[in-house]
Amino acid sequence: MSVFILLNCKTFDEGTARNAIKLAEACRDVSESAGVNIAIAPQIPDIYRVASAVDVPVYSQHIDGAGPGSHTGKIYVKAILEAGAVGSLINHSERRMTLADIEAAAVVLKQNKMTSVICTNNIATTAAAAAIGPEYVAIEPPELIGSGIPVSKANPEIITGSVDAVKKINPNVKVLCGAGISKGEDLKAAIELGAVGVLLASGIVKAKDPKAALYDLVSLI
Ligand code: G3P
Repeated sequence: MSVFILLNCKTFDEGTARNAIKLAEACRDVSESAGVNIAIAPQIPDIYRVASAVDVPVYSQHIDGAGPGSHTGKIYVKAILEAGAVGSLINHSERRMTLADIEAAAVVLKQNKMTSVICTNNIATTAAAAAIGPEYVAIEPPELIGSGIPVSKANPEIITGSVDAVKKINPNVKVLCGAGISKGEDLKAAIELGAVGVLLASGIVKAKDPKAALYDLVSLI
């Protein structure tokens, strides 16, 4: 199984513009030396900047299902593809979407051979997301996001429950978990619970030394 770590820059200053490049370089370096797949999701206006500067998989933080045409303000899949993104988060807890819009976003990503990561907040929404057939679902209890309390310790049942639900609905879908993850023991626990990796943000983006924090994250796998 190949472990996948996706670092979400959100709108942290430490992950914006030139800082996003520094974080992407840290992801690349740790990924190469630890042999773990580490990707970054900078803000959408930073995708081109990061993807052009650093050899690391770049994800969008959001995508709309809108096609070409009259859709002012929407994020069009071809724009992020041409900018250098390989995939996108869909329905992040801080950017919720309707079920119909989630499905439309996953469809346009698939049509463009890009990777979908559908975020969910409980086992029921994880099951619904798995039915759409993304590459990944990412279960993140909202109350633990940014808390520093790792979901893999505070709510292990939500991870095992999500893994079981996904297996029944579509065993090709892989499960990530997120919220409060920052240390090697958190990632190790997530994997032992059946996740293939983690979606995380503040513990790395806001760390004094993000590269050292990433090395710690991968130290036990
Ligand atoms: O997208 C990752 C996220 O919502 C978890 O945030 O800061 O708890 O790692 P954080």
